[in-house]
This record gives sequence, C-alpha cells and structure tokens, in this order.
Amino acid sequence: MQLFVGLLLASSVLWSGRANIVHSTSDVYSPLISSKLKITTNPSNYSALYPQVTDHGNPARWQYLDINQWTTGFFPATMYEMARRKTLCPNSPNFEDNVDWLERGRIWSEAILPMDNGNAQGHDQGFLSLPFVAELAVNPANQTAITAINKFAILLADRFNPIVGCTRSWNSTDPTDFQVIIDNMVNLDLFFASADLTGNKTLIDMATSHADVTIKNHFRPSNYSTWHVVHYNATTGAVIEKVTSQGYADWSTWSRGQSWAMLGYGNMYRRTGAQRYLETARLASKLYLDNVPTNTFVPAWDFNAPGDPATADTSAGAIAATALVQLATLERSIKNITGSDYYVNAAVNLLNGISNLAWRPTWDSLLSNGTANYPVGNFQTGIVYGDYYYIKAGNDLIANDYISCESIAK
Ligand SMILES: *[C@@H]1O[C@H](CO)[C@@H](O)[C@H](O)[C@H]1NC(C)=O
Ligand SMILES: *[C@@H]1O[C@H](CO)[C@@H](O)[C@H](O)[C@H]1NC(C)=O
Ligand SMILES: *[C@@H]1O[C@H](CO)[C@@H](O)[C@H](O)[C@H]1NC(C)=O
Ligand SMILES: *[C@@H]1O[C@H](CO)[C@@H](O)[C@H](O)[C@H]1NC(C)=O
Ligand SMILES: *[C@@H]1O[C@H](CO)[C@@H](O)[C@H](O)[C@H]1NC(C)=O
Ligand SMILES: *[C@@H]1O[C@H](CO)[C@@H](O)[C@H](O)[C@H]1NC(C)=O
Ligand SMILES: *[C@@H]1O[C@H](CO)[C@@H](O)[C@H](O)[C@H]1NC(C)=O
Ligand SMILES: *[C@@H]1O[C@H](CO)[C@@H](O)[C@H](O)[C@H]1NC(C)=O
Repeated sequence: MQLFVGLLLASSVLWSGRANIVHSTSDVYSPLISSKLKITTNPSNYSALYPQVTDHGNPARWQYLDINQWTTGFFPATMYEMARRKTLCPNSPNFEDNVDWLERGRIWSEAILPMDNGNAQGHDQGFLSLPFVAELAVNPANQTAITAINKFAILLADRFNPIVGCTRSWNSTDPTDFQVIIDNMVNLDLFFASADLTGNKTLIDMATSHADVTIKNHFRPSNYSTWHVVHYNATTGAVIEKVTSQGYADWSTWSRGQSWAMLGYGNMYRRTGAQRYLETARLASKLYLDNVPTNTFVPAWDFNAPGDPATADTSAGAIAATALVQLATLERSIKNITGSDYYVNAAVNLLNGISNLAWRPTWDSLLSNGTANYPVGNFQTGIVYGDYYYIKAGNDLIANDYISCESIAK
C-alpha cells in the first residue's frame, strides 16, 4: 500500500496552512503494527532482557539482550509513540486496539531508570533518555522522569572536553585519543531537554560547541557527506584522523550516519534558530536524497558500497524520513513552502520505499532489511530504532498536518 500526500503548488498554499491531502493509505499506519507490538511488548513478557536487533542468521526473531545497550530506550519509546498515535487520531480504526500503550511504555521504562546513575553507553545518554522525554510530553509533572533526564544529561556533560569542544562518543584505551561519531549529534537534544527543566545554560553551550566543531570536521566540504568517526587529541584538540567504523571505507558515506546528521542538525535549528544549523541540515539532506535510488527510495547501507542491488539499511531510511518531516516543518515555519513540500514528499517516498521492501508479517520487528552493523556481518535484520523512527515519522506527518486522520484507510 502506498502513502500519498497531495501537494499544491507553493503559490496556492498559505504559509500557515497545511499542505492539501489527496489520499493516503499505507503500511505506515497499518493495524499490523499494533498486532505485532501487542505481542512483543506484552508486560508478561517483561524481564530484564530487551529486544534490540535481530541476527542475520535468525532475522525474524528479536535477540533479547541485557539492558546495558545503547538501544534499550527505543523499545519503551516505541510504546509511547503508539500511545501518541492514538491521541493524534482517536477515532482511526487502524489504531483501535485494546492496549494501554502508555502503561506499557511506563512499565518497560522502569528498568532503565538505574542506568541514570552511570552505564557503559558512552555518549548515548540521549537515546537512553527517550522514554523519559516522552513521559514528560504526556505528564510534565512526573518527577521520576524529570530526575532521570537531568541525571542522564549530567552523564553526557561529564564527557564534554572544552579543548576539543565536543562530548566524547566512545571511550578509547588511550585517554588522549578522543573519538566523536556523527551519531552523537542526535544525543545533544538531551542537553536542551534538561536545560528546559533546570535553566542550566552550560548544557546548551556544550551542545552548540559540539555541533559547531562537528560542522567543521565531520563534513566533506565538497558535498556534505559525513565521516563516521573523527579522532581528536584530547589534550591539544587537534584532529588526528577521520575514519569509518561501520561504513564501507574511510572515504565512503555510511547512510545511517548521514541520516543522524540530518536529524541532529534539524534538532539544533529547532532548538536554537541558528541559520547555520538549518543550512547544514539542508546540505546533509541533499547528499542523502541525491544518493537514494529514485526507483526504490531505499538507501543502501553505505552510499558507496559496491554490490547490485546494494544491501539496504531501512533504519537509515526511517531516521532520514523523521529528519525530513522535521525539516519540512522548519521550512514551513520560515514560510518556505516550496522547501517544505519538497521534504514532505521525500519523507513519504522514503517511508513508502522501506514499507515496500521491508514488511514481513511473520517477523517480530516491523521492518526487515535493516543493517545493524555490516562490517561484523549483521545485515538484513530487524532493528528496534528502525521501527521506532518508522512509527515516529508516521506520527509526525499527522501531528504536523501533512496527513489527516480521515485519510488513513484501513
Ligand atoms: C517475548 O516475546 C517474544 C515474541 O513472542 C518471544 O520470542 C520472547 O522469547 C519473549 N521474551 C521473554 C523474555 O519472554
Ligand atoms: C513516571 O515516569 C516513570 C518513568 O518514565 C514511570 O515509570 C512512572 O510510571 C510514571 N509515574 C506516573 C505516576 O505516571
Ligand atoms: C568510559 O569512561 C568513563 C570515564 O572514564 C567511565 O565512567 C565509563 O564507565 C567508561 N565506559 C566504558 C564502556 O568503559
Ligand atoms: C550545569 O551543568 C554543568 C554540567 O553538568 C555543571 O557542571 C554545572 O554545575 C551546572 N550548573 C548549575 C548551575 O547547576
Ligand atoms: C596527543 O598530543 C599529546 C601532546 O602532543 C601526545 O603526547 C599524545 O600522544 C597525543 N595523543 C594521540 C592519541 O595522538
Ligand atoms: C563526496 O565527495 C567526496 C570528495 O570530497 C567523494 O570522495 C565522495 O565520493 C563523495 N560522496 C558521495 C556520496 O557523493
Ligand atoms: C532484503 O532482505 C532479504 C532477506 O530478508 C534479502 O533477500 C534481500 O536481498 C534484501 N534486499 C535488500 C535490497 O537489501
Ligand atoms: C527553501 O528550501 C529549499 C530546500 O531546503 C532551499 O534550497 C531554499 O533555499 C529555501 N528557500 C528559502 C527562501 O529559504
């Protein structure tokens, strides 16, 4: 099934109005989503083990791993997105189920709370805090969630090095070897979430410093493609080398890294209004859209990896779709309707592309064809964050009036 968004000519759309909707039916809003998640999120299935990713050798079944993983927050955050979906469209038959998603999100969040005292997840404190940020969107007075967000933010702030001007992503055995990965851009939103609660402006200064240093060093000026990893010297701040970890080659562009950049700089512009972040989000998105095949709209796991057809990464597509819906809304906020329409259209193409390729009703995950980590042999998998951003992008389309509830057909 395809999702259609009708876009009027820019001149005929009021800047403050919604794009016109012709018709939409899509796997993005399929009742199958609820029926799958109903099983995997069942509270009686709750234990200290969380689904994170499937394995290439057994791709239809989640691997249940101990909680100390960077991806643990996405599963409860997905339940909060399911609750949000029902709130956005309370009468949609697609979203009718007898599940209290908010209750499930809260139950599956609890075991993550102790991680705010410290954990082995480096910079990924932002991802771990997602369910608590989602809780505050529902109940801004929940003191447990407020405390968790502030504690996760301190863990991330403790990794900031003023000489480098960044938060450290991964630890190294040599403490002077300071690694920053492009993914880190998406964790910065935690600083703003905490600053909103405490007024601590130092956190915002850390976020803008990290984002500015990353503009300078993580992007190839010729086309705004990204390096995955930049090694800095922690004592001098100098760049030591620019390499890949999960991509094909040091010179290539790992598609998920590019989608993290798109989302991270869109977040930075939404939070600060600084033009340079909007420009960076646009340029990162241009590189991405220039490299997604226009017949399938499914990104290869690395834009430069050889192979025909290249192995896909649907998680990169879902993250990019989320980033593009946000970018569309940011363009609309500055009355750039042409830009806004362009990005919504691209987001819908990406969501349709991954839906067409990657819906397998018998899998635990919603999407197939994720590439968790190609160099270690884990591709054609399900991935919890692919599923999370797939649902979130669909919700954001509704929440920002690009898709109407009425147009979602069963
Ligand atoms: C949770 O549910 C899945 C899918 O039904 C199942 O494979 C898995 O073993 C269950 N996990 C636990 C901890 O019960
Ligand atoms: C507050 O948030 C926590 C963590 O997100 C959750 O586990 C708890 O159930 C929530 N409490 C209430 C009263 O909603
Ligand atoms: C990384 O280093 C920090 C600070 O030294 C430490 O608290 C943390 O436990 C380390 N993480 C891992 C995964 O080793
Ligand atoms: C703001 O956060 C930073 C980083 O965690 C911390 O060092 C500083 O003490 C905080 N400032 C206030 C006023 O709490
Ligand atoms: C960082 O610079 C210091 C001082 O020049 C040097 O001793 C150290 O080996 C460098 N570290 C790395 C990882 O290059
Ligand atoms: C981006 O430009 C660099 C040269 O700066 C080139 O090596 C690379 O292949 C280009 N990447 C893409 C995806 O076009
Ligand atoms: C999608 O995954 C299936 C296996 O689940 C594989 O056969 C197929 O080649 C993959 N397609 C792409 C484009 O990655
Ligand atoms: C509108 O958005 C497009 C796409 O990002 C951009 O190229 C264009 O410069 C923007 N126009 C204005 C007036 O900002």
